[in-house]
Amino acid sequence: MIANLSTYESVQPDNVKVWFKAGPASKFPKNGGACIKYKDKQIAIFNFTRQATWYACQNLCPHKMEMVLSRGMIGEEDMQPKVACPLHKNTFSLKTGKNLNGSLDAIATYPVKVEGEFVFVGFSE
Ligand code: FES
Repeated sequence: MIANLSTYESVQPDNVKVWFKAGPASKFPKNGGACIKYKDKQIAIFNFTRQATWYACQNLCPHKMEMVLSRGMIGEEDMQPKVACPLHKNTFSLKTGKNLNGSLDAIATYPVKVEGEFVFVGFSE
């Protein structure tokens, strides 16, 4: 399958139709990311233990269309959680998806919730 940016569209909490069970919270690395698959999408999920929050975004980096963001470093910039692509260090807000150090397309972000031991990602379809 050819990676395609149009596969990914941000989902706001109000628009969630499906909470997809991504896996047990204990399987996700602390302060790091892991990739899951939902339909034809690869989704990066980040367990931001420093902030006690979780984030999800497309795994596809819009720079060279590589499926790599789940392996990126996470951190904060101006109180915004962000991920840096492991290949060329473009950074993206994990809240808005905006490219913070350039003019690349924004990445899609998705709501995450943890219920019991499990992590769920919200999708609109
Ligand atoms: S492929 Fe992600 S920054 Fe180049």
